Amino acid sequence: MNNIEQYVESKNLNNLKLKYPNCLGFNKYMNYSRYINGRIKLCKDIGLTNGIKRSILDISSGFGYFPLVCRFMGHRVKLTDIPNNLFDDVTDLFELEKKYMDIPTTGKIIIPFNIKFDIISAFSVVPMSYFNNDSWLLFLNICFNQINKNGFILLSPNRGGINKLNLFLDTRIGKSLFIKETCSNKNTTIVRKNES
Ligand SMILES: C[S@@+](CC[C@H](N)C(=O)[O-])C[C@H]1O[C@@H](n2cnc3c(N)ncnc32)[C@H](O)[C@@H]1O
Repeated sequence: MNNIEQYVESKNLNNLKLKYPNCLGFNKYMNYSRYINGRIKLCKDIGLTNGIKRSILDISSGFGYFPLVCRFMGHRVKLTDIPNNLFDDVTDLFELEKKYMDIPTTGKIIIPFNIKFDIISAFSVVPMSYFNNDSWLLFLNICFNQINKNGFILLSPNRGGINKLNLFLDTRIGKSLFIKETCSNKNTTIVRKNES
């Protein structure tokens, strides 16, 4: 068991099961080793273990395992999600700073932190499954307005939402607005702004 797992173990998440006995998906997220080890692997994959401290915003964080792992690696993390009593209790237990942010299917978000980030992550976020190309374009542009130079967005859209993310070639000006990279974890995509 690594330090992060020991920390999560010490929070006795099982106690919340009594408070939320019928909560769908709870058991899945209780399997914290699986999530934590998957996120540690992803961090290694994308260079978050090279000693450089980053500022990271995790959108629609759920239990918050990705930002928790990042915090243990020394990064500064902030979270957003919609109100959810169970998720709120868990991220409070993990002492993670979170603000509410709804994501409409138009992609027009208002990021509730007035700072710039090196990375914005959004994993398995429900409304992204319903994004069309315009929603993706708006969402990515709003995110990049709050991302430092050389920063990037990490995505793993639900249910094939990634397939709709085909706006990378802007035919009006004949060049890609964004550059897409696939991690060795095939479910995760890195999106960078094309500065060329
Ligand atoms: C499958 S969970 C993923 C949680 C976390 N990102 C992860 O990978 O473990 C889906 C997330 O989408 C969020 N979500 C659902 N509807 C949303 C909405 N309208 N706006 C923003 N987030 C939403 C949920 O609150 C939840 O955090």
